[in-house]
Amino acid sequence: EKSGYDHFMLKEIHEQPHAISDTYRGRLLADKGIIKMGSVDNNITKFLNAKRIIIVACGTSWHAGLVGEYLFEDIARIPVEVEYASEFRYRNPIINKNDIVIAISQSGETADTLAAIKLAKSKGAFVFGICNVVGSSIARETDSGAYTHAGPEIGVASTKAFTTQITVLSLIALKLGHLKGELSNSKFHNYLQELKLIPSKVEELLKINTEIEKIAAIYKDAPNCLYLGRGYNFPVALEGALKLKEISYIHAEGYPAAEMKHGPIALIDESMPVIVIATKKGHYEKVVSNIQEIKSRKGKIIAIVTEGDVLVKEIADHVIEIPETEEAFSPLLSTIPLQLLSYYIAVMRGCNVDQPRNLAKSVTVE
Ligand code: M6R
Repeated sequence: EKSGYDHFMLKEIHEQPHAISDTYRGRLLADKGIIKMGSVDNNITKFLNAKRIIIVACGTSWHAGLVGEYLFEDIARIPVEVEYASEFRYRNPIINKNDIVIAISQSGETADTLAAIKLAKSKGAFVFGICNVVGSSIARETDSGAYTHAGPEIGVASTKAFTTQITVLSLIALKLGHLKGELSNSKFHNYLQELKLIPSKVEELLKINTEIEKIAAIYKDAPNCLYLGRGYNFPVALEGALKLKEISYIHAEGYPAAEMKHGPIALIDESMPVIVIATKKGHYEKVVSNIQEIKSRKGKIIAIVTEGDVLVKEIADHVIEIPETEEAFSPLLSTIPLQLLSYYIAVMRGCNVDQPRNLAKSVTVE
């Protein structure tokens, strides 16, 4: 059932082109210039009148929520707060009329997320779910929702769930941005065409295996690792670090690149690998100067860059090229090499990739 792959995680990483197109199938009608989502269409007044969106989730789904924050604020101009479900539920949170709560969960069984939903509902909120497992507790408890249709995710480390959650969030943000007049027709159409191309770009990216294996072999014994990104790619840095720590047991942290000089820079020396997402559109020049700061402290730089990049190539120790896309969709691409890197490092360290120690696929107790 691993279809010839050594691990479920690798299989699921490679399933992403299909998973993403399954997520947008029937919803993204790029040639007609339409996004059709029953659960959003049926509640469209609520969405259009939303004064605020509160996203609740845990782990990787929380990271997808952070990408959602950038998407909704940037594209649909709706203020967003992203909350760890476990904190939200015990904080006596303020929920106003016209707030929408979006709960994100692959399994649909995460105890803290479920409790956060129940709390939000008791305070009168409209709760929308983004789940993968059909008929799961969260899918049933939410007022409405959209499935990711990613297919079963068996590996404990979440991969295709993350990219498909972001796909759903992108569809909703684009639809709302367009209806609210925040996006011109031509910009909207460009986005739709570009989103349609994402699966083939992921497919292309998945061919870089050997390059990533080489980098993995060099850094597999590192005790620590830093991940940096800005804007849309800040949550990807967090997700990259989580992937590495949970399956390879290497201590890793993700930071917004500019926060580095507020502390983490003290850690940088010649033995510290720093993975920097430095794609063309996302604050590129600023990230380049962050890379220079790391280099002058002798840190080892593995940079994720846009195809054809020249500047970062000169400074970084290793570069991984990803296809060009809209900045808003760059997490869908930049996350792929980070998944592969943590996978190969974990395999080389002899770790149990699909079932890391101390972890369960779904956390049904708080
Ligand atoms: O099923 P959920 O999306 O609610 O799960 C949330 C987290 O437990 C999950 O993402 C966890 O962090 C993964 N192990 C990450 O790879």
